[in-house]
Amino acid sequence: MASNSNRYGDSGRLAAPGGLPPPAPVELAQGEALAGLIREEMAACGGSLDFARYMELALYAPGLGYYRGGAQKFGASGDFVTAAEFSVLFARCLARQCQQILNELDKGDVIEVGAGSGVLAVELLRALETLDSLPDRYFILELSAELRQRQRTLIARELPHLVERVHWLASLPEERLRGIIFANELLDAMPVHRFKVSQRGIAQMHVSWESNHFVWCAKPANDIVRQRVEVLALPIPYVSEINLQAEAWVRSMAAHLSQGVLLLIDYGFPRAEYYHPQRNEGTLMCHYRQRAHDDPLILTGLQDITAHVDFTAIAEAGVEGGLSVLGYTGQAAFLLGNGLHELARASDPTALRAHMDLARQVNVLTSPAEMGELYKVIALGRNIDIPLQGFSLQDRRGRL
Ligand SMILES: C[S@@+](CC[C@H](N)C(=O)[O-])C[C@H]1O[C@@H](n2cnc3c(N)ncnc32)[C@H](O)[C@@H]1O
Repeated sequence: MASNSNRYGDSGRLAAPGGLPPPAPVELAQGEALAGLIREEMAACGGSLDFARYMELALYAPGLGYYRGGAQKFGASGDFVTAAEFSVLFARCLARQCQQILNELDKGDVIEVGAGSGVLAVELLRALETLDSLPDRYFILELSAELRQRQRTLIARELPHLVERVHWLASLPEERLRGIIFANELLDAMPVHRFKVSQRGIAQMHVSWESNHFVWCAKPANDIVRQRVEVLALPIPYVSEINLQAEAWVRSMAAHLSQGVLLLIDYGFPRAEYYHPQRNEGTLMCHYRQRAHDDPLILTGLQDITAHVDFTAIAEAGVEGGLSVLGYTGQAAFLLGNGLHELARASDPTALRAHMDLARQVNVLTSPAEMGELYKVIALGRNIDIPLQGFSLQDRRGRL
């Protein structure tokens, strides 16, 4: 598994587009159908689409987008591996954090947003059951009908006695929630605006179609993007992204939380690091069959497209929505604060292979060279004021 691609792109694994494995004929046909749909919309919009709209269609066009078509996507035989797919220890640590919150609230519900293959839901529910801390209801809010079906099948197979407790949602429930809303690697999969600052001013990057390929084209930035970029006072030339959808999503989750915690795990940085003068080519990253590269205009609909998360923007959106920042730290500190070592030590050392596997998983989850440092955890809360154990070893709220 260590040779698989995490979604931030393994160092040394940046493949030249020409070096990517060729898609199968069925994938090519799906990619062509999606490209046709995108080109139709481009034609209707005067010849180009804002990159955020291109990314939205590439990932989420019904039936054809990357997350809504039938591709494998997750795990060793897919395109990338998330922490939840990589190690059960991730879900077990998260369960401990959930247990603390649910105890404080004297029970409540859990909403997992963007559940992917469903592996995280299975392992989290299993661990919460072992801890005798199952939530009253476990909701999965998932955009992709195809993934909702996969999640349902997996949970029914792995946890038949708990499947009644799990409810799938295509949008947020009417009632406000008391409990926990959490998401792992969701925000990075939301469509971003890409901008370019040059001597000519601030441009918004669009995508158009030329000579049988999608190509970049620069257009004057709309007012919102321009105003947001102006205050960053970036050096010239500079290309980066801004995730307005993630901010709106946080505000809407905040509005739905009557009491409890919004817990978000993803790769990214505080704003000062995100828009560091040296990060002048942005953070877009694509994943295709365990290879990471930086060209979102190829393999449209067949590859994952992501951008890193500006956690300062996420914290600000939460505060605007009436939440308080309860903690912010790296994934390593969060998992260790939730007893990662203790959980790993509980394995039987005489079962040498399993024991060594767990040791390797701890290393990948926590090493600063792997997922430990780039991945961050932020907790935003309403009407709850306890020191969360995931931030007990280190809390970097001050850096946001
Ligand atoms: C990279 S996957 C993360 C999978 C999983 N959380 C894990 O850790 O393995 C992103 C997931 O978010 C879903 N998604 C993206 N935008 C969403 C939204 N606005 N609401 C709900 N789900 C969304 C995708 O369909 C996909 O299941």
